[in-house]
Amino acid sequence: MLRTHTCGELRISNVSQTVTISGWVQGVRDKGSLLWIDLRDRYGITQITIETENAGKDIVDIARSLGREFVISVTGKVTERYSKSDKIATGDIEITPDKIVVLNSAITPPFTIEDETDGGDDIRMKYRYLDLRRNPVRQNLELRHRMAIETRLFLDKLNFLEVETPVLIKSTPEGARDFVVPSRMNQGEFYALPQSPQTFKQLLMVGGFDRYYQIVKCFRDEDLRADRQPEFTQIDCEMAFVEQEDILNTFEGLTRHLFKSVKGIDIPELTRMTYADAMKFYGNDKPDIRFEMKFVELNEVVKGKSFKVFDDAGLVVGICAKGAAEYSRKQLDELTEFVKRPQIGATGLVYARYNTDGTIKSSVDKFYNEEELKKWVAAFNAQPGDLMLILAGEENKTRKALSELRLEMGNRLGLRDKNTFACHWVVDFPLLEYNDELNRWHAMHHPFTSPKPEDIALLSTNPGAVRANAYDMVINGVEVGGGSIRIFNKQLQSQMFDLLGFSKEEAQAQFGFLMNAFEFGAPPHGGIAFGFDRLCSLFGGAEVIRDFIAFPKNNSGRDVMIDSPSPIAQAQLTELGIDVKKA
Ligand code: AMO
Repeated sequence: MLRTHTCGELRISNVSQTVTISGWVQGVRDKGSLLWIDLRDRYGITQITIETENAGKDIVDIARSLGREFVISVTGKVTERYSKSDKIATGDIEITPDKIVVLNSAITPPFTIEDETDGGDDIRMKYRYLDLRRNPVRQNLELRHRMAIETRLFLDKLNFLEVETPVLIKSTPEGARDFVVPSRMNQGEFYALPQSPQTFKQLLMVGGFDRYYQIVKCFRDEDLRADRQPEFTQIDCEMAFVEQEDILNTFEGLTRHLFKSVKGIDIPELTRMTYADAMKFYGNDKPDIRFEMKFVELNEVVKGKSFKVFDDAGLVVGICAKGAAEYSRKQLDELTEFVKRPQIGATGLVYARYNTDGTIKSSVDKFYNEEELKKWVAAFNAQPGDLMLILAGEENKTRKALSELRLEMGNRLGLRDKNTFACHWVVDFPLLEYNDELNRWHAMHHPFTSPKPEDIALLSTNPGAVRANAYDMVINGVEVGGGSIRIFNKQLQSQMFDLLGFSKEEAQAQFGFLMNAFEFGAPPHGGIAFGFDRLCSLFGGAEVIRDFIAFPKNNSGRDVMIDSPSPIAQAQLTELGIDVKKA
């Protein structure tokens, strides 16, 4: 090995040992008579100190020739430092070198390899291998590694088997577009990359595997956001002979184990909220419950006072921001601008301050006198010092907009601390949602999800009212995982495809393999998949999952380092039987 120790390892107890360390030159400081090199590797930084009068000329010459990020190996004696540093773990010692070998030179990096770098996103992505040398990025990936190890330890103890499923498959209808791969041997035909291993894990249950998991890449061609990558990783799990309750308990256990083993946190028992309540009280199927600020519906309280905006609205609904009555006009204008942004889409914001002196002042005083406003205070259960914020309009749109405003107020009032974790389950999702554009029903989770047995009769009469045995785990307003109890009966699965608008032939062509398998003794089964990148970023206190992936894609789905996607040679296209011009 080109080293006896790492750059993070040496302590006062090593003083007077002769050691060899190797790494990258973080920096060189030359004070004439004294010359310091900071040498860095994954484990830390060690200082090399050269007294130029006493050291050999060759060592001084080499040291003076070094640039940032040169790769060197240093052999020398560990000595106690005259002025110690408590900033780094090796701060008590330094190395007096006998030998410095330049293993490789480096051109000047395009950004500083420091915790706080001067490089913007684009340049760091282009030179990701340099970005990976930075502590924050490496620490994120170390966290990811720890999470994967702890996941495997926990699931292994519960008899889960990790099984690899294929990557070249055919389309599974998970809701996003597929990435497809042309087949050279079967021209005109395509594989699809899995959006998830959903059907395979179900087939593993039919195959008697009983408990499966896989930390697995999934691929979805969808619009990208901070918490979405086209290629991402799931902790994908499935269990046979279980009911919903068993899955919730098992994976609450996994979550608890990860928090404890990785972060040293004991999380309280996960609460459960129905989808209907999540929408009613938070306007969102993944509510951030680190803070309360529940929706209060006001139709009964505010209508009929000649204020047209409220009178014409399908829903008038608001939130009460604790202690925000002192918001300035400017702050309230900012909030109004916020809700009017096209992404939020509200037409305006009504507010009422319940001042600490007991007076109530609203932005619609013309229509509502003090007596009326007292009714608002009662509905919100507001206290002096609180600010009531109200939106009105079409029901679904208004709930969605208020949900955004609630999160914004949570941010502004400091209620969304990244080191506080509020984990819960959202349960009883509707089985189906209606797609107005396509004029047909869609599976809300996926078509393999089982309706609640007590709702099966509604499938033919009122499909929209059927609830599913489906659940999401939500942490701090992020959907970190989702799953369901599956259909394991051919007839019911076939009825489901009917409802989703598949003809018998289409259903058989696409999913015949699964429905046929159900005829060979499929056990009751269910499962869940966690978004592993999301889980890691939450644990790391970040919102952008990209920082927890070694080689991520940018927001246009490009890997700017390897410059992909990219055109391929005509010869390759011809071999695949693809005519780009025609396509
Ligand atoms: P679902 O589609 O809900 O379920 O996905 C499970 C979890 O994966 C994460 N996730 C993503 N993370 C990053 N980038 C993306 N583009 C992305 N898309 C999804 C989310 C989500 O909760 N087969 C089912 C699971 C099952 O039923 O067992 C499935 O894939 O955190």
